[in-house]
Amino acid sequence: MSFKTPKKIENFSGSEEIMAASISEPEDKILDIALRPKNWQEYIGQERIKNGLKILLEAAKLRQEPVDHLLFYGPAGLGKTTLAYIIAKEMSASLKITSGPAIEKIGDLASILTNLSPGDVLFIDEVHRLNKTIGEVLYPAMENRTLDIIIGKGPSARTIQLELPPFSLIAATTRIGLLSGPLRSRFGATFRLDFYENQDIEKIIARSAELLNVPIEKEAVKIIALSSRATPRTANRLLKRCRDYAQVKAGGILNKDVAEEALKMMEIDEKGLETTDRRLLEILIDKFEGGPVGLQTLAAAASEENDTIEDIYEPYLMQLGLINRTPKGRVATKRAYEHLGRPYPHEQTIKLL
Ligand code: ADE
Repeated sequence: MSFKTPKKIENFSGSEEIMAASISEPEDKILDIALRPKNWQEYIGQERIKNGLKILLEAAKLRQEPVDHLLFYGPAGLGKTTLAYIIAKEMSASLKITSGPAIEKIGDLASILTNLSPGDVLFIDEVHRLNKTIGEVLYPAMENRTLDIIIGKGPSARTIQLELPPFSLIAATTRIGLLSGPLRSRFGATFRLDFYENQDIEKIIARSAELLNVPIEKEAVKIIALSSRATPRTANRLLKRCRDYAQVKAGGILNKDVAEEALKMMEIDEKGLETTDRRLLEILIDKFEGGPVGLQTLAAAASEENDTIEDIYEPYLMQLGLINRTPKGRVATKRAYEHLGRPYPHEQTIKLL
């Protein structure tokens, strides 16, 4: 039996990666690939994870086996996909990339798995969005490299078992809590990516500026880093926008003033908050008296998706201590009131007493 490889998968190995992207991808995506670290030396930060992974990879290489299935979780933009690239490269393996939402049918997953070659690394991004029934097909595939396929319907239905080549699954999620226990338990190792240290974000910006040939002053690196939400993807995005601004307004030199002006134009403040972050805090404070308010109510009031709030905005707002999640809902902290320049109501009450 054979399954056609679906379009829902991208295949990368070494230098093919950039060529494939340069044909049809928008400029930013090409630059993202160019900036992506290609090996451990280039990968800045996340030392604990790098050290753990290096040992796993070294051991797998010594045994001449694919590395165990790995699960990465943590906020978006911290480099989960980048780690998959480096792991595949370190293992001299080809990397196949897909995502939970792209796998719509069991047949999609079956064709991806049966088209793997020995040693391949399969990366499934947003694995929490994989349909539960489809996810169950993964269990035997991960555990004993078999694919159980049901052919036909009703009394004449029968199961056939296909053997899969040895492969490594790397899955990434921003929402570990949505993964089933059985799926989680089938990963040989699970790693949580944390927000980056500010000094590491500064190093990433300096490295990217060099790769982009952007003359940048140290003070500008610092200012961009502080607005980068402790996230490399954001740091690189802001660097590129500041570079555009410098080219148009300042003869290409990215200094402190230019960085400040560019960030101001983008309405990004010194904590890295953008308009929507501040709007969420304002809604929480003005409409709901600082909370607690349930996610759904907050999302409806802000005209945002629940997932967008939970995946994109909330992790960083919580990291900054601007909101708290309580059993009764989201609450704006004293810091949030201060950041928006509002009087903190609990202090007012004390003063009135
Ligand atoms: N670009 C994006 N993430 C990076 C990282 N962790 N190290 C270096 N450059 C990066």
